[in-house]
Amino acid sequence: MRVSVTQAIQSLRSGDVVSLPTETVYGLATSLTHPDAIEQIFTLKGRPQDNPLIIHVADRSQLSPYVTTFPPDFERLSEAFWPGSLTLVVSANISAVPERVRAGLETVAFRVPNHPLTLEVLQQTGPLVMPSANLSGKPSATTSEHVEYDFGETFAVLDGGQCKLGLESTILLYRDNQWVIGRQGAISPEQLHLILGYIPEAFTGSSTPLCPGQLYKHYAPQAKLLTSPTPSSDVIVGYSDRTYPSVAKFFSLGHVQNSEEVAHNLYQVLRQLDKEGVKEAWIDLDFPDEGLWITIRERLVKASARSESF
Ligand code: TXA
Ligand code: MG
Repeated sequence: MRVSVTQAIQSLRSGDVVSLPTETVYGLATSLTHPDAIEQIFTLKGRPQDNPLIIHVADRSQLSPYVTTFPPDFERLSEAFWPGSLTLVVSANISAVPERVRAGLETVAFRVPNHPLTLEVLQQTGPLVMPSANLSGKPSATTSEHVEYDFGETFAVLDGGQCKLGLESTILLYRDNQWVIGRQGAISPEQLHLILGYIPEAFTGSSTPLCPGQLYKHYAPQAKLLTSPTPSSDVIVGYSDRTYPSVAKFFSLGHVQNSEEVAHNLYQVLRQLDKEGVKEAWIDLDFPDEGLWITIRERLVKASARSESF
C-alpha cells in the first residue's frame, strides 16, 4: 500500500513499520524509540536475533547522543560519502542505543541515505533503524513492488521509484588503527582509497565476520544458481553484449562493460527468475575483479550458495 511522506512520518511517529526508499535498496524503517516496532522488524523479516540493525540519520548532527568516540578519519569519510552508500560502525553509547539494535555488541552502525523522500522523513522523525526490506535470506528489494511481494499488498511503502544503485551500502569498521571492510557494497575499495590513502582490507567470507549478518544465507532466489554451466543448463543469466549458446531462456543483467547498470538490475533479475518459475540457471561470473564488480561477484556467489543456515 503506497503512502505519502506525511503518512509515513505519522506512522513512524506512532511506532509503526514503513518501507522507505534509499539509493541502495528499500529499507524497513521504524523509530529507535519504539521497542515493540523494533521487535516486529525481526519478526517480519524472519531475521536472526544476533544480526544488528543500521541506524539511519538525516545528517551527522543526529549522531552525537549515540556515540562515545569517533575514530580517526570518521569526519573525512562521512563528509566524502554522506548522504550516500557508506555505513560506518563506531563505539556505541550503550545507554542510548537499545541493545536489540546493537544485537548486544558495543558498537553501532550509521548511515545517511541519499534519497530526497527518505531524507525528508528522517528530518521529521529523527533516527530510524532500517534493515533491507526483504525476507531474511532473499534478494533485497529495489522497487516498491518487490517490497509488496515480500510483505503483502497492505504493507505501507513510500514509493521512491527504482533504487538508483541497487546494491547495499559498504560497511566500514575501525580495528587495530585502521578501517576495514565488513561488507562489500555500493562504494568500491578504490573510492575509499581516495579518501583514506589506503585500500581497506576486506573481512568478508571469514568464519568470524566483522558484520554478524555476513554469516547468514543471503540474496538467494528459489531458483538454484549455478556458477558454471552444465550440459543441461537451459537458462542463462548473462550480459546483452556477450554471445551465448542458444537456450530456452536468457535473462540480461545489462552490459558487461557497465558495472553500474548490472548492479542496478541485479536483484530485479534474481527476483524475476522466481516470478517466472525458473528452477535452475547458470549465472555468468566472467567479469573483472575491480570496482563494483567485487560486490556483484560477492552477492552472486552468496546467492548461489545453498546454505542450510539462515
Ligand atoms: O544499504 C543498506 O545498508 C541498506 C539500506 C536499507 O540502508 N540496509 C541494509 O541493512 O543493508 P541490513 O540490515 O540488511 O544489513 C545490515 C548489515 C548486517 O550485515 C549487519 O550485521 C551489519 O549491517 N551491522 C549492523 N550493525 C553492525 C555493527 N554494530 N557491527 C557490525 N556490523 C553491523
Ligand atoms: Mg539485508
